[in-house]
Amino acid sequence: MITTTGLTKVYRSAHGRGREITALDGVDLHVREGEVFGVVGQSGAGKSSLIRCVNLLERPTSGTVTVAGQDLTALAGRGRRAGKDLRRARSSIGMVFQHFNLLSSRTVEDNVELPLEILGVPARERSRRALELLDLVGLADKAKAYPAQLSGGQKQRVGIARALAGDPKVLLSDEATSALDPETTRSILQLLRDLNRQLGLTVLLITHEMEVVKTICDSAALMRKGRIVESGTVSELLATPGSELARELFPVGGDASGPGRTVVDVTFQGEAATRPVISQLSRTYNIDISILGAAMDTVGGRQIGRMRIELPGAYEENVVPVGFLREQGLQIEIVKEGAQ
Ligand SMILES: Nc1ncnc2c1ncn2[C@@H]1O[C@H](COP(=O)(O)OP(=O)(O)OP(=O)(O)O)[C@@H](O)[C@H]1O
Ligand SMILES: [Mg+2]
Repeated sequence: MITTTGLTKVYRSAHGRGREITALDGVDLHVREGEVFGVVGQSGAGKSSLIRCVNLLERPTSGTVTVAGQDLTALAGRGRRAGKDLRRARSSIGMVFQHFNLLSSRTVEDNVELPLEILGVPARERSRRALELLDLVGLADKAKAYPAQLSGGQKQRVGIARALAGDPKVLLSDEATSALDPETTRSILQLLRDLNRQLGLTVLLITHEMEVVKTICDSAALMRKGRIVESGTVSELLATPGSELARELFPVGGDASGPGRTVVDVTFQGEAATRPVISQLSRTYNIDISILGAAMDTVGGRQIGRMRIELPGAYEENVVPVGFLREQGLQIEIVKEGAQ
């Protein structure tokens, strides 16, 4: 649904005398139709630049952006006539902002109608559509209110309704919840999830909060210095040994209780999460297993967990039990091999 290839953005600062900042450095992104895809990364990693290049708010320095089968970069490159095509293509991309970007002089309904006005939709149709959208986001009774009369969460609901006005296939969100408290964040994330399910909307969201990824994302990518350094479905990431995203999604702590022990991180997914594997391991090999740390959670309706366990003896003595865990379909990562 969204594909970028070799996407590069170099900013040239006006007063820095030719100083260049490479905000995106060859980004290949692939977001599948109907999924919620989260991009995380530290401040300055290039997340906003990526999302702004995806809807051509920012002109990429090189590379291509394809949304719903349409090459936006090609449209943007072709003179004035293409500008119109680009505007039309953009209307199938909704955008939600961190600070809502509502017009304070307009009522809630008129804010939602704004993109429809730009598209030249007749007044009655606009009004019908706006009320329908406000109903969808749970604000049917606020149509005549002004933004100043709304809470942050309500403002963001208006922002989302406005983003949906052009009936987009894709919704882009840049830190839509980072100005909101945790409770309101949860309700906005739930709304985005519902819209994704009900409307089959593909959502690309930027966040710096792992909690957001955990709550609603099917897939995620980690950005660093303008590059995507990890990406995949949440299950794939959790199954990837050494994945930084997996570690941050499911942090497990705990140090070995002494020398000569093997420390192993075990990731449980799906069916394996409900089987008593650890007690089987203990019984089968007659070993005492200590649990050093654990994290359990539900991601996309699936139970997923990580556990850090300690086995007596060095790794060489534990090859068979570790093999047993792998045979059970668990992902295993050796954290510490223990001295012989
Ligand atoms: N318009 C601009 N002109 C010059 N440099 C810019 C511009 N926009 C962004 N940058 C630079 O590009 C780099 C990436 O910025 P970007 O805003 O994409 O990061 P981000 O990951 O969204 O960060 P944050 O989490 O703080 O929002 C930074 O070094 C930033 O200073
Ligand atoms: Mg940003």
